Amino acid sequence: MSDRWYEKAVIYCADIDTFADSNGDGVGDIRGMIGRLDYLARLGITCLWLNPVHPTPNRDDGYDVADFYNVDPRLGSLGDFTELVHQARDRGIRVIIDLVVNHTSDQHPWFQSARSSPDSPYRDWYVWSQAQPEDRHQGMVFPGEQAETWTYDRTAKLWYYHRFYKFQPDLNIKNPEVREEIKKICAFWLQLGVSGFRMDAVPFIIEETEPGNPNSPKDMEFLSELRQHIQWRQGDAVLLAEANVEPEQLKDFFGDAGGSANRIHMLFDFMLNGRLMLALARGNPEAIIDALRDTPKLPDGGQWATFLRNHDEVDLSRLTAEQRNEVFAQFGPDENMQLYGRGIRRRLAPMLGGDRRRIELAYALQFSLRGTPVLRYGEELGMGDDLTQDGRDAIRTPMQWNMAPNGGFSTAPAGQLVRPVITGGEYGYEKVNATLQRHDTRSLLSWFERMIRTLREAPEVGSGSCAHVDVPAPSGLLVHRADDVTGTMVFLHNLAPEDGVVDLSSLFPEADFPNDVLADQEYAEPGKLDKLAVAGYGYRWIRLCRKP
Ligand code: GLC
Repeated sequence: MSDRWYEKAVIYCADIDTFADSNGDGVGDIRGMIGRLDYLARLGITCLWLNPVHPTPNRDDGYDVADFYNVDPRLGSLGDFTELVHQARDRGIRVIIDLVVNHTSDQHPWFQSARSSPDSPYRDWYVWSQAQPEDRHQGMVFPGEQAETWTYDRTAKLWYYHRFYKFQPDLNIKNPEVREEIKKICAFWLQLGVSGFRMDAVPFIIEETEPGNPNSPKDMEFLSELRQHIQWRQGDAVLLAEANVEPEQLKDFFGDAGGSANRIHMLFDFMLNGRLMLALARGNPEAIIDALRDTPKLPDGGQWATFLRNHDEVDLSRLTAEQRNEVFAQFGPDENMQLYGRGIRRRLAPMLGGDRRRIELAYALQFSLRGTPVLRYGEELGMGDDLTQDGRDAIRTPMQWNMAPNGGFSTAPAGQLVRPVITGGEYGYEKVNATLQRHDTRSLLSWFERMIRTLREAPEVGSGSCAHVDVPAPSGLLVHRADDVTGTMVFLHNLAPEDGVVDLSSLFPEADFPNDVLADQEYAEPGKLDKLAVAGYGYRWIRLCRKP
């Protein structure tokens, strides 16, 4: 059995500044997060992924870093940070942090120095061009909010490259000093106790940008170098990467040294994410079955990270235009719900019309598929979005803790909060909050606790194999199984509103005492597995066998 912790982890993603404010200044902080660790421990998560914690002008929610060796003073101090890591560990929770090294903030002293003089030691840390690059209006990540990828800097009298916003100049990965610095940044945070990094924008980090060449070469070897470095510093540290690229390129990101992943340990499965959305929109699992079938076999130690929602828009760019429109029609019909022409800036609960059955179904499905599940804060409560906020801020509203003003997030006056708390209506904190749900065993939060506990008793999910079970079944029903040396589970998820029945008796004649370990309701005992009923939007997780 694998003892790689990340294969059995449940990852929870939170932004410190919208989680819990301990000092009443309107901004969530590290001490506030420490105060909520018991909540996270009870939920059952095993790894906390923190969105950027570094000092920042905060023009891209912290993804514009001004100092890689500190925490933003709004959030607390490095002392608070190490206390958080320690307290989390005491509760069996590891901490990983965002590593945003494709670019810095334009306010970073490196960039300020680089632009100021050709003799600056940092000049070559960024990507410059004398002439105006022809591909200047290509490759934008935020179309509509970003007009170009090269901007003229009047101080330097040169063009600089920025894959993202123009206040995020790209670092020059070709420069050995930059590579060494990135390793040093990793080593620093490992020394402070983190268990690894969520690496931001990896395909862009390794891009050896050439002005005028929109398909500049990529240096995959940097990922091997970095992996070797962090693994040497801390054997069980992980890299979890954001690399939303074509499926055939993904294997290169894992690397394959004699059958073992020697670059990134875990990649977010954007392809599956898009297909999950499509399948949920259609009420038909075909797209997921395709994804399971098309998934390349990963090298040993390589792992997928699955998700339904994250801190960005739902990115549907890997679907065809027609498929994307199907998802838009169901989950984001208004233009105001859509973003960058490719995505949806909503949380899952409102996308599914607040239908509790469908929310449970979607999360039961995500958590039972291959890979390590990642959950965005507030999703466990069914929090909503605030479409009056700009862009992705719609889904970055403060955590809703209780009935107190500001949902218990902060004691500051409402106008002083980092972002408004969702108030009133179906998703307002008065109705959707952790305390109310804590006291209700039928709440979504209680369900998440049960579901995660169940998952953690099923090590074959995540570290074992995962396969579609091809049997005659109603069109909305997905049957899949997970196997490893510890046992076998079979899963039924009904994406359609109609009830269904499936016969699995011929497939699993050996099942001794199959039993439902999680289901949307009480069903008759599975017995011989010949008449397994599943309600519309229902699901059953059935344990077939468990080996000691
Ligand atoms: C990643 C992050 C996103 C950020 C961007 C630039 O895509 O997920 O939130 O804006 O990188 O750093």
